[in-house]
Amino acid sequence: MNPVIEADKTSNSEGFNQEDWSSAYCNVDKEYKKTPLKLIKGEVPKDLNGTFYRNGPGRLERKGDWVHHPFDGDGMISSMQFKDGNVTLSNRFVRTKAWEEEEKAEKFLYRGVFGTKKSGLSLSNAFDLRLKNIANTNVIKLGEELLALWEAGSPHSLNPETLETNGIANLQGALSANEAFSAHPRFDPGHYNDNSRMVTFSLKTGPKSTIRLMEFANKGESTGSLITDRKDTFNGFAFLHDFAITPNWAIFLQNALDLNPLPYLLGQKGAAQCLKSNFKKKSKFWLIPRDHGIFSKTNPRIIDAPNGFVFHHLNSWEKNDEVFVESIFYKDFPSIEPNTDFKKIDFNKLPEGVLKRCRINLLTNSIEETTLSNQCCEFAMVNPRKVGLEAKYSWMAIAEKETGNGPLQAIKKLDLSNGEFHTWSIAPRGFVSEPLMVPHSSSKEEDQGWVLVLIWDGELQANELVVLKAKDLSHQATLRIPIKIPHGLHGSWAESKEF
Ligand code: CO
Repeated sequence: MNPVIEADKTSNSEGFNQEDWSSAYCNVDKEYKKTPLKLIKGEVPKDLNGTFYRNGPGRLERKGDWVHHPFDGDGMISSMQFKDGNVTLSNRFVRTKAWEEEEKAEKFLYRGVFGTKKSGLSLSNAFDLRLKNIANTNVIKLGEELLALWEAGSPHSLNPETLETNGIANLQGALSANEAFSAHPRFDPGHYNDNSRMVTFSLKTGPKSTIRLMEFANKGESTGSLITDRKDTFNGFAFLHDFAITPNWAIFLQNALDLNPLPYLLGQKGAAQCLKSNFKKKSKFWLIPRDHGIFSKTNPRIIDAPNGFVFHHLNSWEKNDEVFVESIFYKDFPSIEPNTDFKKIDFNKLPEGVLKRCRINLLTNSIEETTLSNQCCEFAMVNPRKVGLEAKYSWMAIAEKETGNGPLQAIKKLDLSNGEFHTWSIAPRGFVSEPLMVPHSSSKEEDQGWVLVLIWDGELQANELVVLKAKDLSHQATLRIPIKIPHGLHGSWAESKEF
């Protein structure tokens, strides 16, 4: 066999093959209940006990009509339960109202926020402003409820064991109908010595934006109950996918974006396609005081932020009069054009995600910006016990190439104090998703534990669940997943003792 031709098959000059990457996009065709996963390599640690929940689009095509963007795909939950060195898989679509209706009709009945049109006549999309809650962005456990989250609507409540959908969750009456409840709660590990809390928000936006900041108990008898609740209104439109917390602040970044709703109203574009960077405007940090912190009941602080667009923050912490916020910055909002096939996306045309730290001085309102990692990254996290505190380490998904954008093909552990790092790569034919760092239950060391990641192998045309050692990303175990799962979004870990 000619080795040159063989090499061309596996990767192009960019180091990967577009078809290997895009072949992960398919409909999930089967739902499993506690199916044991086959161990391919290594050994699953016996002291890793709990459930890795993961959400992402699972239905991308109906009778030949494709979603315009995978973010419009219906949420499908995977649950990988670790017990005494064995892992079982359950997976189930969230039975949203729209999913049930579209399954029955065998076509798209709703428009998607990212540009998916209804099946049939394109004119029927105009002025149809119904939102399809697709429950596809994140999945977290709060008390006995598993919540499938999608930021423009209510959470869906699921059974944590069977993944059956119980319906719309209102969190013990805390949420009103269709409240735009964030898909990015932050879990405070215990800053007020009263155990863990889930800190989260909902958003109403337009010419002004109102953030409702909520904190829910996450341990003990009152788990799931609303502890604190405040509302603050800011000038301008806001697209807030994520935020960060410290013991005293909830930190938001208002990206300098404009929304032109006309193409959305006319049915030509999805709402998210109508967003555009406005380089004449300044991005702003909005710091909202947490209700049990030392600035409680005071007004939020508004501080000019560096240029760029942020989906995700890594972490935030305080030192004296300064707040440090670490975020993944893009030069521009990565817009989703109406006439492109997402499977053929040219990564070279997308801005890369750069991990930066902003040091905000609260006395002078000044900001100092440093770059922590230039290599294109996404889905970064610290040890969950370090949320809101200064962390030494971070784990993230990165592109294989050192500059520019590219598909995520490797995992990086970064020492935030000195830039030292470890990587684990499955390029050229493999692709990673969000890595989840699970700390060792009895170790106090910040980087003791594991990293769980679902990968797509273009050569095998299969997903695998990979366990790495958090300390140096050395391989621990690989298990085969019996279904094809498209590149997904966010997930979480629930310790087994919580069941
Ligand atoms: Co996100």
